[in-house]
Amino acid sequence: MEVFETTGIGSIELKNRIFRSATYEGMCDDLGFPTTQYYEMYEKLARNEIGGIITGFAYISDEGKAMQPGQAGIDNDSKIPYYQKLTDIVHKYHSRIFMQIAHTGRQTKKSVTGKEVVGCSAKKSIYFNEKPRVLTTNEVHQIIEEFGNSARYAKESGFDGIQLHAAHGYLIHQFLLPSVNNRQDEFKIDKTSKINTRFLDLVVDNIRAKCGDQFPVLIKISGSDDYYRKFDEQQFINLVQFLNTKKLDAIEISYGTMDFALNIFRGDLPVDLILSRNPIFNSGPFYSRVFKKTIALNFFKVKLKPYSPMYNLDYASIAKKYTSIPIISVGGFRTYHEIEYAIKDKRIDFVSLCRPFIAEPDFLVKLMHDRNHKSKCMNCNYCAIMCDTNNRTMCYKN
Ligand SMILES: Cc1cc2nc3c(=O)[nH]c(=O)nc-3n(C[C@H](O)[C@H](O)[C@H](O)COP(=O)(O)O)c2cc1C
Repeated sequence: MEVFETTGIGSIELKNRIFRSATYEGMCDDLGFPTTQYYEMYEKLARNEIGGIITGFAYISDEGKAMQPGQAGIDNDSKIPYYQKLTDIVHKYHSRIFMQIAHTGRQTKKSVTGKEVVGCSAKKSIYFNEKPRVLTTNEVHQIIEEFGNSARYAKESGFDGIQLHAAHGYLIHQFLLPSVNNRQDEFKIDKTSKINTRFLDLVVDNIRAKCGDQFPVLIKISGSDDYYRKFDEQQFINLVQFLNTKKLDAIEISYGTMDFALNIFRGDLPVDLILSRNPIFNSGPFYSRVFKKTIALNFFKVKLKPYSPMYNLDYASIAKKYTSIPIISVGGFRTYHEIEYAIKDKRIDFVSLCRPFIAEPDFLVKLMHDRNHKSKCMNCNYCAIMCDTNNRTMCYKN
């Protein structure tokens, strides 16, 4: 397998084995409509030879909105013409574009969304610290419909497929995890597999029913997490085997939840920036800020995993053994040689990158011309921390 060879996902042809992984843009208006900056950013990526682009997570309903103010929405059909404009731009360059769709569940803030925070259980996220109202069984079925509707809006907007965000602690992930899901209804944790796949199962079926079997459905999952009751290797294998039965079109393997968000990204912990700009750490009464600055921040520090190249590749290799669905590895690819190693030596189908494309939208073209070019991304994580403020996503160092 070669990095720069034409290949495909489902019926869709891709010009190489590289994806831009989902990256929150912060470039939409208050109602989740794209702005000019959003179109320009995607045009820049498409013009620079990326095979497949996955958008930042887009909310499927107001209730599923993130606390980031500039998030994109795919919650109703009035948005279709605005995304049609986007997909037309990307297709001009023969690049493919997939919309990542998500419901945040407990990982959001009522003070920002104005909506009650809901979850599959009443368990709070450590980071967001809001007690969710437990979704009733009927409401869960309604959210399944909303996932299907959003996928249909994406299809009608000309996207080449969608990616379900089932990683990083968002709602689909919350249902999968026994450390979060303590339900007793049809969505409870299965005693044998020790995960709950029913929610995901019905979401996928609903999407297929509304979009047809030919419309590519990708998924992003986390190989493990940092909770006390850690998602173990057997649970991960059970999840991959379940996805195999659903015949999804690609599985992207990431890590973790937003409770320990820096373990999703890895790299520096910019303490001063967090304390001055993060809305969770720099708000509240004086004593609470002092607590967060000392105890809470140190708690997160102890849990930090160091950056290493290709840091999720082992999970991707495990997944590869249990499914014939194409696997995408994300996390810590900064050189051509690392990408080539994953694809050629480890037989991973695709590699996806986030921060290198924030630092250099033309990173891939640079690799095409110079196999020794190294990403300018220094894993400073300013881009990730600034996501939670009112700013659009950009590189703060280059
Ligand atoms: C600024 C920023 C925004 C991100 N937004 C999303 C997102 O919307 N959806 C998602 O699944 N992952 C998101 N991620 C995670 C990336 O897709 C990727 O999994 C992670 O950054 C590791 O890849 P990298 O080492 O190439 O940056 C984001 C990461 C960063 C730094």
